Amino acid sequence: MVWNMAVKPVISRAELFDFHGVSMTHFYTDNWENVQNFQARPDDILIATYPKAGTTWVSYTLDLLYFGQTERQTSTPIFDRVAFLESTISPLGPGKDLADNLPTSPRLIKTHLPVQFVPKSFWEQNSRIVYVARNAKDNMVSYFHFDRMIRTQPEPGEWSSYFHRFMEGKMVFGSWYDHVNGWWKKKQTHSKLHYMFYEDLSEDTGREIDNLCSFLGLYRSDEEKKRVASGVQFDKMKNDDTTNYSTHCAMDFKISPFMRKGKVGDWKNHFTVAQSQQFDEDYEKKMKNSTLQFRTEI
Ligand code: PPS
Repeated sequence: MVWNMAVKPVISRAELFDFHGVSMTHFYTDNWENVQNFQARPDDILIATYPKAGTTWVSYTLDLLYFGQTERQTSTPIFDRVAFLESTISPLGPGKDLADNLPTSPRLIKTHLPVQFVPKSFWEQNSRIVYVARNAKDNMVSYFHFDRMIRTQPEPGEWSSYFHRFMEGKMVFGSWYDHVNGWWKKKQTHSKLHYMFYEDLSEDTGREIDNLCSFLGLYRSDEEKKRVASGVQFDKMKNDDTTNYSTHCAMDFKISPFMRKGKVGDWKNHFTVAQSQQFDEDYEKKMKNSTLQFRTEI
């Protein structure tokens, strides 16, 4: 299986199955032992998210903060600059191999794994981890459109059935509720974990870049930080072939673009009033023991 190649491979949608209590597809479990044995380094940066929570946005922000605008940025797509650890779908080999061979220092590594599946060397090496969370309603809508357009995910079906499956956690990488809460719990005891929110990034990118720099122990001038904030704006990333995934041949942009809307509150265009009510009631039950607070509008 390859992506991003001149000759397009035959790509087919995978089935969801239960993997140690989490719904997964084979694309993310085929290389399991190697992924679990991945050797992290103390200066690695792991970018962890539930799918569609802002991974690419934060990946590119970190890429620019560390390396600035270089030849590599204009020639290499973001999915080759930031290794997707557990993925087995890549022209450069499995994500684990890509991570092993990243030429940068630090290495930027992306994962959608729930916290209990993270390779133990990241904890042993005390590598820095940036977790990005997005409110469930917008996350669900974004995931729905992504599942429609990428040919490796299970068929999303109709929105009304997708809506129920999301609440049941029958999504690739499992339940949104378990994911955000599992990582939130870890943050309470692990100081090298920075937990951030898509909505905050959208509200004030500059402030979130300042927070990232403090967490990473990075000094960057105001001018450099402004340049990064401007470089990671939605329209810039959407129009840049190295960040918009347009060279990724598993995706069908005729169905939906990867950089779709980039908004907080787009869920209002998808949820009916009844669905929103049903979702909120269920959400309250599922999140009643959590101190996590999300904003569904800003
Ligand atoms: S993935 O496939 O899990 O790595 O996707 P991920 O990057 O996590 O999420 C994709 C959504 O993030 C939006 N996005 C942005 N929003 C605002 N500003 C910027 N710069 C930005 N970059 C990516 C992207 O548009 C997807 O959200 P939706 O709501 O579908 O537009």
